[in-house]
Amino acid sequence: MAMLKAEAQDSLGDSEGLHRSMSTVSLLSLGIGGIIGAGIFVLTGHAAASYAGPAVSLSFVIAGIVCLFAGLCYAEMASTVPVAGSAYTYAYATMGELIAWIIGWDLVLEYSVASATVAIGWGGYVTSFLKGFGLTIPDSLSRAPFDYDPATGAWLHTGALLNLPALFIILFMTVILVFGVRESTRVNNIIVMIKLAIVILFIAAGIGFVSYANWVTPGNPDGLFIPPSSGQGEFGWSGVIRGAGVVFFAYIGFDAVSTAAQEAHDPQRTMPIGILGSLLFCTVLYVLVSFVITGIVPYDQLNVPDPIALGVDTIGLKWFSALIKLGAILGLSSVILVFLFGQPRIFYAMAKDGLLPPFAAKLHPTFRTPYITTIITGLVIAVLSALLPIGLVGELVSIGTLFAFAVVCAGVLILRLRHPEIHRPFKTPAVYLVAPLGVLSAVFLMCGLPKDTWIRLIIWLFIGLVIYFFYGRKHSVIQRCEDEGASSSITSSR
Ligand code: ALA
Repeated sequence: MAMLKAEAQDSLGDSEGLHRSMSTVSLLSLGIGGIIGAGIFVLTGHAAASYAGPAVSLSFVIAGIVCLFAGLCYAEMASTVPVAGSAYTYAYATMGELIAWIIGWDLVLEYSVASATVAIGWGGYVTSFLKGFGLTIPDSLSRAPFDYDPATGAWLHTGALLNLPALFIILFMTVILVFGVRESTRVNNIIVMIKLAIVILFIAAGIGFVSYANWVTPGNPDGLFIPPSSGQGEFGWSGVIRGAGVVFFAYIGFDAVSTAAQEAHDPQRTMPIGILGSLLFCTVLYVLVSFVITGIVPYDQLNVPDPIALGVDTIGLKWFSALIKLGAILGLSSVILVFLFGQPRIFYAMAKDGLLPPFAAKLHPTFRTPYITTIITGLVIAVLSALLPIGLVGELVSIGTLFAFAVVCAGVLILRLRHPEIHRPFKTPAVYLVAPLGVLSAVFLMCGLPKDTWIRLIIWLFIGLVIYFFYGRKHSVIQRCEDEGASSSITSSR
């Protein structure tokens, strides 16, 4: 165990000196703050309109169960290897360098592309909020110029130039992060309260307006709740599964709790509560929101950038609609900050291990932030968010994160088998069932996602392996230690 911790600490470089100041409530707030975002505020509409219909609430249940398996495994990892980190750190400490690299590279997809996805959602709500005050951002400056039709595989030009609000928020947050204004716990707590209040108010205000008629497929009385399938992944059960793969995005972020392991009081006890508590709480809220939204707006009208605000407009609460939009704008900003904050720090940990060039671990002399990678990451994400549609990037994040979850679940199992003696303050219950189910269910949801999303994931991982074999393997700290060990044993034998 000491070895595990030492290795994990190494992979983090200089993470010592953090204060143990976070209580269970702060951890729950961190989890909920990272979870509630574009998934529920935007993608619910896309998943209902394109894939699952009113049964999008079933998609949320399925995605929640998959996350529960992964969450239990994350909780065991976070309590067993309680250092600040991520799936990359756990993998480095437990499964070796190559697997850690694959996970780290995959997390780039999760964190970067998730920031782009949430920024696009943010842009949608800002545009709609300003419109309410008579300020119109023209379509050509508030939409992606490219759209993708999964049915035909064709790229379409929408006639727009770029998504300016999405570009703006990413650049703005990048500047904040370079100067090192860390999200303070208090600000985060306030934003989380606002987000929660808005979601709960929406459920309370909307539930009385739910109409059974909206759960019936238009023109087809047999299509109650689950609309009849019109092709693989389009409605029917395959649509519900594809919907689960899409709305899975809404749950991403509970794993961020594990990054605070070194700043938490009594992490062995509070980590599992923080991870699992925030997950369960959000699952209940999500299922209720999706019930209400599909009950008040016909699902085929939900493919809009601000579906929750549309729901409130539909029931005639115009004043509440502006409040919802403002809450969503604030709430999505905090999610963007969390993900943009995380990405350069994963690069940092990878560079400290020698898997990326040293510049990625360079800190700004005054602000002590990994400014080079923060700027590079920010620029790349800004371009992605300005040009691509939300559905495409959201699905890419989902598949990347599901892959990471599958590896973490497998990792917990491997560690149990290889090192049964390690002290585990939190043990995944029925691990020999839960961990394999975690792997299988994550892969199952991945299978529901479109073929093109798979191709993009495979290309991304292939690029990662090329970089590893041409750079990382030769420069890694482990490799250098082995080389030095070999040369000193040759010298001493001479
Ligand atoms: N779960 C986060 C969101 O929905 C990523 O925005």
